[in-house]
Amino acid sequence: MPTPRLIHPVRRPGEIFQERYGRPTRAEIDLSAVAHNARAVKAQVGDAVEVWGVVKADAYGHGAAPVARALEGSGAIEGLAVSLVEEGLELRRGGVAAPILVMGSVYSQAHLDTLAHDLTPVVSELEDIEAFDRAARLRGERARVHVKIDTGMARLGFRPEHVDRLVAALANAPSVDVEGVMTHLANADVAGSAGADATREQLERFDQALARLAAAGVRPARVHAANSAGTLRFPAARYGAVRPGLVLYGGGQTLGNVDLRPVMRLSSAVVQLRTLAPGDAVSYGGLYRAPRVTRVATVPIGYADGYPRRVQMGARPAEVLIKGRRCPVLGAVCMDMVMVDVTAIPDAEIGDEVVLLGGQGAEQIGAAELAALSGQIEYEITCGVSKRVPRVYRGPEPE
Ligand SMILES: Cc1ncc(COP(=O)(O)O)c(C=O)c1O
Repeated sequence: MPTPRLIHPVRRPGEIFQERYGRPTRAEIDLSAVAHNARAVKAQVGDAVEVWGVVKADAYGHGAAPVARALEGSGAIEGLAVSLVEEGLELRRGGVAAPILVMGSVYSQAHLDTLAHDLTPVVSELEDIEAFDRAARLRGERARVHVKIDTGMARLGFRPEHVDRLVAALANAPSVDVEGVMTHLANADVAGSAGADATREQLERFDQALARLAAAGVRPARVHAANSAGTLRFPAARYGAVRPGLVLYGGGQTLGNVDLRPVMRLSSAVVQLRTLAPGDAVSYGGLYRAPRVTRVATVPIGYADGYPRRVQMGARPAEVLIKGRRCPVLGAVCMDMVMVDVTAIPDAEIGDEVVLLGGQGAEQIGAAELAALSGQIEYEITCGVSKRVPRVYRGPEPE
């Protein structure tokens, strides 16, 4: 008898599941769409403004290294931005050569590693300026940093009234070069005058801080403030560089008149079919009872995969696509399964593809739709697709 192969080439938990046991659930990532979206943003901001693609949080759930390489290949970006040092290291291990900005400002003991892997730190603490100066001297090189100004997010950065302390710390750190100065906008995506007024106020505070830095001789090569909403809605926020994330993944469709393509397509397949009599209940708690004879398809994807459990609680049910038609979700979303109504599709059969996010035929379910139904924001939908779901890459960048 042949020895069973116990060791499987592990890449991600979801891939083992799919390759060995055949669960049809997957997230297709269209890397051509990522590159297209980056070029669309670049076309909006023009040659004078650099685009730094935000790929933190595993590129918002899409897979950091393949997305980063697609962005590099797009020709539209100057650099990449992550939140954590370890995210930057993952990109370097994945063969990414572009400049990488670490925006999260948490370095603990990682100052040397940050420089050794050519990651550009954003600093928000005086202690980090000192620590990067020491690390640079140990390595016999200079540290290029971006400093963060808190103009209204109250999250990270030096408050404008503390710019003098920042200048003093920089004067005592001869091996540190301030390559960039940045801030982060809190309200650029808020509709109407409230969002516009708050954003203008932040930009004014930022301009004042930049002027005080310039007066002290700190004149960075890069100044940046804009996330996706800032980039598309507030040209004044573009300065010399922008840091979009959401729009690279096809989100933020309402932010501006830019042709953005969806990137993630979450799909599975029908694995069981049954016919219910009127009054029969579906799923936990009997939240749904069939009002008529109802054909129900079971689909092997649930909240543990990131399909939002809360879609069942909205005023109208979430829908999935089967044979290009919308089918309502019935009852509670389970951890590993969801049941959907296929009564209107008499030829629905086992194996039919089910699309939970993305397009099928002429229909499209966007992250914004799922977010609205589940009381979430678009970002949470793709970030929430769990490790158990294998990512399958399509486009110019083979994994
Ligand atoms: C500092 C910073 N810059 C840029 C971004 C990108 O934002 P968005 O995805 O809205 O474009 C983020 C994301 O939250 C961020 O934290």
